[in-house]
Amino acid sequence: METLIPIINRLQEVFLTVGSEIIQLPQIVVVGSQSSGKSSVLESLVGRDFLPRGSGIVTRRPLVLQLVTVPPLEERLCVLSLCTQTQAVCIKAEEWGTFLHCKNQVIKELECSGSTSYKPINLKIYSPNVLSLTLVDLPGITKVPVGDQPEDIETQVREMILSYISNPNSLILCVSPANSDLATSDALKLAREVDADGRRTLLVVSKLDLMDAGTDALEVLLGRIIPVRLGIIGVVNRSQHDLNTQKSLADSCKDEQVFLQRHYPSLASRCGSRYLARTLSRLLMHHIRDCLPELKTRVTVLTAQYQSRLNSCGQPVEDQSATLLQIVTKFAADYCNTIEGTARHIQTSELCGGARICY
Ligand code: GDP
Ligand code: NA
Ligand code: MG
Repeated sequence: METLIPIINRLQEVFLTVGSEIIQLPQIVVVGSQSSGKSSVLESLVGRDFLPRGSGIVTRRPLVLQLVTVPPLEERLCVLSLCTQTQAVCIKAEEWGTFLHCKNQVIKELECSGSTSYKPINLKIYSPNVLSLTLVDLPGITKVPVGDQPEDIETQVREMILSYISNPNSLILCVSPANSDLATSDALKLAREVDADGRRTLLVVSKLDLMDAGTDALEVLLGRIIPVRLGIIGVVNRSQHDLNTQKSLADSCKDEQVFLQRHYPSLASRCGSRYLARTLSRLLMHHIRDCLPELKTRVTVLTAQYQSRLNSCGQPVEDQSATLLQIVTKFAADYCNTIEGTARHIQTSELCGGARICY
């Protein structure tokens, strides 16, 4: 089962490369209101600081983030002698990232000024320390236009989000902060619109540490307020102060565990960033497994189409050393034979008083 995800990731890359969207691949899409903690959740899943996030920072373009597990450094070094220079640079790196569509673009693009755009940014991260997952970070749901945002920003962002989550192959990761009313969660409302029976919606309750004194999220986490079929997972990510003081993700993850043990001992093993990563990986595998038969049919149809196109190009050249002259000579000979054959056939039919041939 573990091997399914790298295969699907590879397929996705191939289809992006040939500019085709024929196969819709499973992906995890993060949805939530602005500053609910979407980028923080993604970062904790990746285990890397690289996304623009923070109170004043707004993601304007969808980010398609493909994580690829690669073998640990020691194992990769063994194949170094077989590699090109560029490959070698990657292989020697502990981990590396590439942009599929905009190679030289910097992450800054994500928070660029100008209007919200549908055009996604594709980022690929290879590392021994990530689970193989494709994640999509979307601009936050907004109500009121700020700065240069258009009047209809709410509709625009809504449409964009719906375009990603209506894909039946998307798992929807709704992020709702624990310190706001879950019943008003825009993310869950949007998810309901495209996934009424909740077969592909998961809820992440962020900011467990920011609840008012004397309140907790136990009822929410147990699904007693709003049940979520695939599960409800509480997390504690880094606060703005943690970001300002450059607290590491590793420390944050440790503190998260301590917090959960102290405040939600009965649920600690089913909450937290690491549990979220495992859950997502498992859901994705189930999802891929369910999609495989159809995927296989589509690939078979495509293969047949291309094979017949290939066949129409004639026999393969067996002798690679054949000169163009030889190939032309052979073609001419075959052509003459065909003409002669046809001529004989016509003569025979005429002799037999057969059909007249009209051109
Ligand atoms: P996004 O706009 O939904 O992508 O949200 P961000 O990930 O950018 O987070 C918005 C702000 O909330 C940042 O200042 C984060 O540091 C903070 N934040 C996110 N998650 C948590 C959390 O679990 N606890 C606390 N205290 N702050 C958080
Ligand atoms: Na933000
Ligand atoms: Mg964000």
